[in-house]
Amino acid sequence: MKKPVLEAKNIRKSFGDLEVLKSVSLTARAHNVISIIGSSGSGKSTFLRCLNCLELPDEGSLAFAGEEIEFSRRRGKIVKADARQLLALRAQTAMVFQSFNLWSFMTAAENIMLAPQKVLGISRPEARERAEHLLQRVGLYDKRNSYPAQLSGGQSQRVAIARALAMNPKLMLFDEPTSALDPQLVGEVLALMRELAEEGRTMILVTHEMAFAREVSDKVIFLYQGVIEEQGTAKSLFDTPKSARCRAFLRREM
Ligand SMILES: Nc1ncnc2c1ncn2[C@@H]1O[C@H](COP(=O)(O)OP(=O)(O)OP(=O)(O)O)[C@@H](O)[C@H]1O
Ligand SMILES: [Mg+2]
Repeated sequence: MKKPVLEAKNIRKSFGDLEVLKSVSLTARAHNVISIIGSSGSGKSTFLRCLNCLELPDEGSLAFAGEEIEFSRRRGKIVKADARQLLALRAQTAMVFQSFNLWSFMTAAENIMLAPQKVLGISRPEARERAEHLLQRVGLYDKRNSYPAQLSGGQSQRVAIARALAMNPKLMLFDEPTSALDPQLVGEVLALMRELAEEGRTMILVTHEMAFAREVSDKVIFLYQGVIEEQGTAKSLFDTPKSARCRAFLRREM
């Protein structure tokens, strides 16, 4: 079998006395779409951020594209990741945030052009061409010279997704990409994400959109207080959840 794109084992993370992740593991293989669900505060964002070391785990291991990330440890606790590997991991995993995080002083096209030039060393004209192609892809070519303040939330998030795609990432991470949107704008972002799933992109997403998670996911993980309480195929987890906590959560959300 092919090596997983990402393999996280026994990830632990505390903030002060608060233990947020208590040995959480996940394996993402090429073309997998994995959804992480759970109540507010269960550790979903923290886990996602640990997967590309935006947050350093305290313990555990992480392998990306078959290469184990080398962590320096002090008294057993992870304090540093190998700098070269960290750059590669960040360049090849694209994160899409709830709040878009676009640069307000750059146009839509410029937002997309930045990382390919800085990180991949692509020339400005080539980055421009790539950005315009991606804007076409997400249906926003006519907004290429607009600034984020001139875009709706749904348009901003589609630009943010185009920006993620510009790096041609091996893995895409989404943290509640539709939670900040007005209900009527959620659909356009989900439609784009559905296309990405269908074209075989490897994706891990945190979402409260249960119907969407059920439709696109190969695997669903239910986190409860920093522990994987239940995981399985979308069908098994949504239709026949075994854990009472998972059942109660789904009753509230669906
Ligand atoms: N940088 C931080 N410093 C201290 N505590 C933090 C930090 N980040 C997260 N926490 C705490 O860790 C716990 C898990 O937070 P996290 O953001 O991972 O939850 P979540 O499942 O994503 O919740 P939500 O659905 O509300 O986004 C929360 O109790 C939160 O307050
Ligand atoms: Mg969160």
